[in-house]
Amino acid sequence: MASKGLRKILVLHGPNLNALGKRNKSVYGSKTLSEVNGLVQQRARELGMETVIHQSNSEGDLVDLIQKEAGGASAIVINPGALTHYGLSLRDALEDAGLPVIEVHLSNIYAREPWRAHSVVAPIARGQISGLGWRGYIAAVEYLSTET
Ligand code: DQA
Repeated sequence: MASKGLRKILVLHGPNLNALGKRNKSVYGSKTLSEVNGLVQQRARELGMETVIHQSNSEGDLVDLIQKEAGGASAIVINPGALTHYGLSLRDALEDAGLPVIEVHLSNIYAREPWRAHSVVAPIARGQISGLGWRGYIAAVEYLSTET
């Protein structure tokens, strides 16, 4: 068990990420969401942390989940999917949670269509990891394990 670090991490995946492994593999990779979640959970456990992981295709569901789960969590790792670019109620819920938020994107959102380069979440996030594939989630968990 690490002596520092945030203990319980809420990991959220937004719209269409349930289709990982089938969806545009050259951009998003070939692992399924459950494979990615397994790797994230395993790394978190190794670092002495617990994860609570959810995916939803609906912005309202994600807002409900944040309102319900944030009280028991010490940080949020989120890939908001396309909500990254326009999901203002999601952005507000993340800000209201008052927790460190790490925004993760599998693809490099700055190297794709111009509309993907704008994130409404980034200004309220502790940081953003973009373009490292599933390893971006692992980097987020590792960062949080050293955060006090
Ligand atoms: C994404 C990038 C978004 O632009 C896109 O809408 C997604 C996935 C990523 O992980 O690279 O659904 O967040």
